[in-house]
Amino acid sequence: MFQAWVSKVAGQLRCGVMLGIAAALLFAAETHAETLDVLHWWTSGSERRAADFLAQKLGDENIEWHDVAIPGGAGVGAVKVLKSRILAKQPPAAAQLIGPSISEWAKLGLILPLDDVAQAGAWQDHLFPTAWQLVQYKGHVLGVPLGIHRINTLFYNRKVFKRLGLPVPRRWADFEQAARRMQASGITPLGQSSEPWQVATLFETLILSEGGPAYYRELFVKRQPGAYADPKLARALQHLRDLKRWMAPSEKPWPEMVRQLARGEVGMMVMGDWAKAELNGMGLVTGEDFSCVPVPDTTDYHLYSIDTLAMFAVDDSLENAQHRFAQLLLQPNIQLGFSRLKGSVPVRRDQDLAGLDVCARASWQAFARGPGMQAPSLVHRMASDEPFKDAVVAQVHRFFMDDTMSVAEVQRRLAAQARALANEGG
Ligand code: GAL
Repeated sequence: MFQAWVSKVAGQLRCGVMLGIAAALLFAAETHAETLDVLHWWTSGSERRAADFLAQKLGDENIEWHDVAIPGGAGVGAVKVLKSRILAKQPPAAAQLIGPSISEWAKLGLILPLDDVAQAGAWQDHLFPTAWQLVQYKGHVLGVPLGIHRINTLFYNRKVFKRLGLPVPRRWADFEQAARRMQASGITPLGQSSEPWQVATLFETLILSEGGPAYYRELFVKRQPGAYADPKLARALQHLRDLKRWMAPSEKPWPEMVRQLARGEVGMMVMGDWAKAELNGMGLVTGEDFSCVPVPDTTDYHLYSIDTLAMFAVDDSLENAQHRFAQLLLQPNIQLGFSRLKGSVPVRRDQDLAGLDVCARASWQAFARGPGMQAPSLVHRMASDEPFKDAVVAQVHRFFMDDTMSVAEVQRRLAAQARALANEGG
């Protein structure tokens, strides 16, 4: 009897010990699943789905994506939060950092080089040269490009166009004709928010339309003094003012502007192709319910913004997870899956176009024409440092809101700003 009890207890103990060991192993595995803080500004429905897709793929690798999403279109709030976290010595493990700002943080030694990952994955052979250049700094690879957005995209509601018997708005003349007809039928022709970055996003497409990529670069990348006195700038500003008669601007976030297009309250909208993903997310089909064409007179050009994640050198123990994350992000299936949810196109030039819709295919093909046809978005941080971008956005917005301000006055102000910021080493 006593023996039976002893052996039962011993059995339970053995079982308990085994269970204890198993639990300890599980616990260890859980606590060893590294966590990476990822800071970004993807908060609309479609942006959220695209970020969740990456988080899930990272989770499959037993690395947890700790989300740090800061609302505010074009990263207006996110970039401020990033700066304050860095000043507080609490940088996130990864952040959406694009354009020249990557090298600004790199100069301070804050970015984790990804050279080995890039070499192992032969990134240089697979990426578009522009995307590859973008993540280079002094011979090191400092970021992972995720997808290419096209900013010079004119969306139009196909049902509205069909009902009014309007041709596809490929040229400004078609656009004007469509706008007149829509206004006469009680539809706002052009959906446009008066948020500063959204006004400036439209404006940069007008610069491209007026002057092509070479002039665009003179103005926003090289900041050549003569470019500010050029009549092309005057015409683009005047065009922005003339387009106001087709809008009913109020300061709404971009997803709300997209909803107005979806409901047919507005007929057209100029916005980066993240708007396409938002429309798809509402159940609208590209090429059926709505479609897109390049902004008139920019058909061969690609005004781009390349979403990129940079890894911060936070903690040696996270490096392995950061490298694995970087390696994952460039895989063809992840690139395609992310772009389809985000509205962008993959950064890989070996992409099979069969997986892309009609707008994405046109974007990819325009981008593939090479640097001569590409222009870096100023508003989305691809063309200049932050102070110059902010100064242009503020001036253009002021001009847009105040009809008494003359075109010549804005030209003078922009020239003065370019000079002042160049003196500061901008
Ligand atoms: C851009 C960014 C896109 C999208 C958009 C709207 O700057 O590249 O990914 O988020 O802003 O917020």
